[in-house]
Amino acid sequence: MDKTLEGVNMMMTSTDRFKCPPGIKVFNKIADFRQWRRSLLLDKKTLGYVPTMGALHQGHLSLVAAARKRCDHVALTVFVNPAQFAPTEDLGTYPRTLQKDLDLLASLGQGVASAVLVPQVEEMYPAGIELDVTKQKGTFVEVLGISNQLEGTTRPNFFRGVATVVSKFLNIVQPEEVFFGQKDIQQCFVIRDMIRDLHFPTKMHICPTVREESGLALSSRNVYLTPSQKEHALVLSRSLKHMESLYRAGTRDATTLVQAGTKLIQDERKKVQEDGEDWEIKLDYVSINSGKDLSELKGDIPSEDGCVISMAVYVGDTRLIDNLCLDVELAD
Ligand code: PAF
Repeated sequence: MDKTLEGVNMMMTSTDRFKCPPGIKVFNKIADFRQWRRSLLLDKKTLGYVPTMGALHQGHLSLVAAARKRCDHVALTVFVNPAQFAPTEDLGTYPRTLQKDLDLLASLGQGVASAVLVPQVEEMYPAGIELDVTKQKGTFVEVLGISNQLEGTTRPNFFRGVATVVSKFLNIVQPEEVFFGQKDIQQCFVIRDMIRDLHFPTKMHICPTVREESGLALSSRNVYLTPSQKEHALVLSRSLKHMESLYRAGTRDATTLVQAGTKLIQDERKKVQEDGEDWEIKLDYVSINSGKDLSELKGDIPSEDGCVISMAVYVGDTRLIDNLCLDVELAD
C-alpha cells in the first residue's frame, strides 16, 4: 500500500475514540450497520441516506434535514474515499473532523440523524486500493460518457471513484431515498445515470446549493482558503450570477455567456496580481452544458432542456467549483 494510504488508514476513524451523541448510532463495521438497517425494515420504517466524506457543514445538514422530511430515519456515511483522489490530490490533508461532525448532527436535535457509518478503508476495498489506477485491483464502476467532460477533464478518474463508492454504499445502506447537493452537479448527473443503469431501487434527490451570505458556495475545502482568498473566491458566484442575468435578459448563445463569465474571472486574476499576492487565481473551465445530459453547448441553448453553467477555478492551491442550473428539471 502506498504511503499516503497508510497515513489515511491511521487517521481513519475508529469510533472507539469518539463520543457518540445520544440518539445517534455510530457504526464502524458494515455488518453492524446492516443489522440496524434490517431492524428498520422489520419495523417498516423508511431510510433516507446522505453520503459524505465528513467535514460536515450547513450544506450537508440541509441534506439531512431534507432526508428527514421524507423518511422515518436518516443515515449518513462518513468516508474519505481514496478511489476518488488522484495521487497528486489532497487525500492526506482532506479535513477529518468526526467528533465535530457528530456534534453538528446532534445539534439538529434528537431523531433527525439516526445513524452514521464510518467504515474502514480495508472493509470498503477488500482487494486494497491504490491511488494509481493502473495498479488497482477489484471491482470498479464507471459511468461512461458523462464522466469525461467538465470535472472529468482535470480529474480523469474522479467519477470512477465516486460511482464505485456510492454503489458500494447503496448496496450497504439500502436506502429508499438518497440525497445529494447541487453544488456537485456533475456528480449528481453521474449518480443519477448510475442509479438508473444499475437499477438501484433508490429514489435520488438533488437539493439546492447552500451558500454563505456572501454567495460563496459551502464546501469542505473552503477551510483551505485564507481570508483574502475567500474574498477573491466570491468571483465564482458573482460571474455565475452575471451569466445568469445575461441569460435571463435573452442571451441564448453559449459562447457569449462563457466569454462573459471568463472575463470576470480574468479580471479578478489581474486584481490578485496587482495586489501583490503570492498566490494566483487560475481558471480551469467555464462551461455551459445541456440540462438534459450535460453535453457541452457551443451555440444556441435549446429552450426545452435548460442549461447548467459551471466553472472550476483555482484560488491559490484550492480548486473550487460552482454552478447554476437555468431552467433545468432536477430530479425530485
Ligand atoms: O460529494 C462527496 O462528498 C463525495 O463525492 C461522496 C458522494 C460522498 C462520495 O465519496
